[in-house]
Amino acid sequence: MTNTNYNKASKYTDLHLVYKNCSGPGGLKLTEFMADKMKVEEGEKLLDIGTNSGYQTCFLAKEYKPFIIGIDPWGEAVDELTENAKNWGVQGNIIGLKVGVPDTNFAEGSFDKVYSTTTLEMIRGMHGEKGYRKAIEEVYRVLKPGGVFGLGEPMHRDVEIPKEILPYVTKGDMPAPWTECFTTLEATVDVLKSVGFTIIEAEEAPDAQLWWEEFAKYDSHAAAKGGDAEVIEKDKGRWLTFGYVIAEK
Ligand SMILES: C[S@@+](CC[C@H](N)C(=O)[O-])C[C@H]1O[C@@H](n2cnc3c(N)ncnc32)[C@H](O)[C@@H]1O
Repeated sequence: MTNTNYNKASKYTDLHLVYKNCSGPGGLKLTEFMADKMKVEEGEKLLDIGTNSGYQTCFLAKEYKPFIIGIDPWGEAVDELTENAKNWGVQGNIIGLKVGVPDTNFAEGSFDKVYSTTTLEMIRGMHGEKGYRKAIEEVYRVLKPGGVFGLGEPMHRDVEIPKEILPYVTKGDMPAPWTECFTTLEATVDVLKSVGFTIIEAEEAPDAQLWWEEFAKYDSHAAAKGGDAEVIEKDKGRWLTFGYVIAEK
């Protein structure tokens, strides 16, 4: 645990509700951490990639007041985002669109900021490094010059996979095994640099383990028998981590 106070996220005290609506470690703490690092400000045009039902999107709109376009190509995500935006009273700050990266069709230089957490690693899992790179190229394209990209992803340390977790991380289906979705911070930074980004900051999140442990406890799928909680517990922070990159176009 670090000194991170999470002044905004700590107002949302029902962590069962938070993790029911956020799909990954960190919940709203992750979003506050990223938004502060990205210096999100009122009135900016922000693209949120991979909103799911949009709890983090609504939190960004409510607490930081940018104008957000939230995109998610799967299922009912955009309908749920629109419904949540009304429930949170932030419908004037959010538009949801059922598209995904890299095929967004936004004009070049449309956004001041791009936020994406716990999403692009799935594209690596489904479409490999080439697909991941295409997604990052699209982020670069739609940002204004000087615009900022905040990327937060489950990652792994550059160490051998502990044998206790090997079967689990090589066989899961989220939509591909974790070993095909997650990579190291260094490899992620290399992709962003090669696409043209200037790296402002790239680290393991100081609270990565706390975020994973909260996810293990409060996400009902993770906590269920045979769920992610078992591997998080067995790993004990040796292989699994959560990395972030703040980068400028
Ligand atoms: C694990 S959820 C993360 C949701 C939210 N950002 C969070 O951290 O709680 C990942 C989301 O990415 C969406 N997704 C899948 N492919 C995508 C793509 N090509 N572009 C944008 N989003 C995508 C999925 O539909 C899913 O809702």
